[in-house]
Amino acid sequence: MNISLVAARSENGVIGNGNEIPWSAKGEQKLFKEITMGGVLVMGRKTYESIGRPLPGRKTIVISRSAQELPSPIKVCNDLSIALECAVQLKRPIFVVGGGQLYSQTIALADSLHLTQIHCYANGDIFFPEIPDYMTLKKQCYYESNINYTYEYYERAEKNEI
Ligand SMILES: NC(=O)c1ccc[n+]([C@@H]2O[C@H](COP(=O)([O-])OP(=O)(O)OC[C@H]3O[C@@H](n4cnc5c(N)ncnc54)[C@H](OP(=O)(O)O)[C@@H]3O)[C@@H](O)[C@H]2O)c1
Repeated sequence: MNISLVAARSENGVIGNGNEIPWSAKGEQKLFKEITMGGVLVMGRKTYESIGRPLPGRKTIVISRSAQELPSPIKVCNDLSIALECAVQLKRPIFVVGGGQLYSQTIALADSLHLTQIHCYANGDIFFPEIPDYMTLKKQCYYESNINYTYEYYERAEKNEI
């Protein structure tokens, strides 16, 4: 199983405020679309509610203990490991796309991380977990926008690299 996390965080580690993302950086969503297009998006129920619809060109699996069903074609799983198994069966790249609860529960399983560092300080109550030491920065690209941001790509180091 190969899992990538895709997230954007502010300079102070915020990813969300209530059910909202507390910034709007032009171009960042296009980046998210390019990274995830064709893949399976695995997300928590609160993130799904904040998006409110399935995203085109991608399969969506929502993890929830409370929701039994969501409008087709979204699949709901009550358990993280079952959700990841379902994602594997779809034979597409797997992206965990939030929110805070999902990132915390999956960062130790991740093979790679697409992290956009938004160059602002944001008010919020949901944070990205600490990036494990074995995650190695492989790529970095700075973008100027209404709020500047830097896209970073990390991969899990091979055992002989640590
Ligand atoms: N900046 C970014 O890149 C980014 C990306 C995505 C989201 N966000 C932000 O993150 C925030 C939402 O994050 P969050 O941490 O509050 O919520 P979340 O991770 O999106 O969803 C949490 C919900 O997922 C379900 N869940 C979590 N773990 C589960 C498990 N092991 N088994 C079954 N169900 C499980 C539960 O749903 P039930 O309550 O239904 O049981 C739980 O309440 C929002 O502000 C959103 O805008 C930011």
